[in-house]
Amino acid sequence: MKTILITGANTGIGLATAETFVKDGHHVILACRNPDKASQAKKQLDAIGTGKVDTVTLDLNDLAQIAQTADTLISQFEKIDVLVNNAGMMTPQLESTADGFEKQIGVNYIGPFLLTMKLLPLIKKAEQGRIIHLASMMHLLGQIDVGQFKADQIKKYNGVRSYANSKLANLLFSNTLAQQLQGSSVTSNALHPGGVDSEIYRELPKYQYNALKLFLIPTSKPAELIKKMAFTTEWSQRNGDYASLQTPALKSRKAKDRELGQYLFDQTIQLVHQYL
Ligand SMILES: NC(=O)c1ccc[n+]([C@@H]2O[C@H](COP(=O)([O-])OP(=O)(O)OC[C@H]3O[C@@H](n4cnc5c(N)ncnc54)[C@H](OP(=O)(O)O)[C@@H]3O)[C@@H](O)[C@H]2O)c1
Repeated sequence: MKTILITGANTGIGLATAETFVKDGHHVILACRNPDKASQAKKQLDAIGTGKVDTVTLDLNDLAQIAQTADTLISQFEKIDVLVNNAGMMTPQLESTADGFEKQIGVNYIGPFLLTMKLLPLIKKAEQGRIIHLASMMHLLGQIDVGQFKADQIKKYNGVRSYANSKLANLLFSNTLAQQLQGSSVTSNALHPGGVDSEIYRELPKYQYNALKLFLIPTSKPAELIKKMAFTTEWSQRNGDYASLQTPALKSRKAKDRELGQYLFDQTIQLVHQYL
């Protein structure tokens, strides 16, 4: 029985992924911001009758809370075999996290960065640890401007751009971490899950969602890919790789830029160092 931590596992791709792991008899920890939604998901997964399900409260909007949750996990569990950095959000409005970051870069990238770095010692205790990052083909539109990570530093906000920036940051983090993990028992890989029918499109106008829905795939498809990335021998050989459903696994020039990845890593460490 492997132990798998999935962030944002109460719905969408996270819940579907949890379901495949529980069906295979694994121990899944659902890390969710809303305890009621987490216990509803746990109920649904417990009904499968195999595996084991735990929940933990994790709000990626708040660095202090993330650090606290990571410390709780470190004190409760001996190891984590797989971390799926799945939770993410999209918003057209300029909003700010508890720490003053623009919300999409904060919740989609800086929060998961802190969680991953805090949990790394626990993942290293697994025989073969794997870290899986939900990036997106939207990273192709992304750029990195650390000077605009704080919401009050942004002069002209574009929600789609900001989402794309956060997904580029996910991919760069995955790649840089993979380099650092070379020769260790842990790998770091990322994926684009396809255009997936989930709640992430909740803020789209209804007519846009109805049109988009025609091209969306069910959450079970990325869940199957994540399972392969988490457990197959093929994926045990891959580190710093990027998989994609529906579209070719094209990485932008920026996503392949090692110096940019290292720069982003160093800058982000400085942003979160007081919580490490
Ligand atoms: N769907 C797609 O077409 C698509 C395409 C490319 C990439 N992705 C990526 O795939 C991942 C999963 O997306 P999805 O489509 O499954 O979306 P979803 O159905 O909206 O699920 C997102 C999950 O993230 C959680 N979350 C949001 N803000 C959070 C916060 N501050 N702290 C902790 N958890 C938070 C949500 O919790 P609540 O339920 O409480 O809101 C939910 O559990 C995301 O990283 C997304 O960027 C999705």
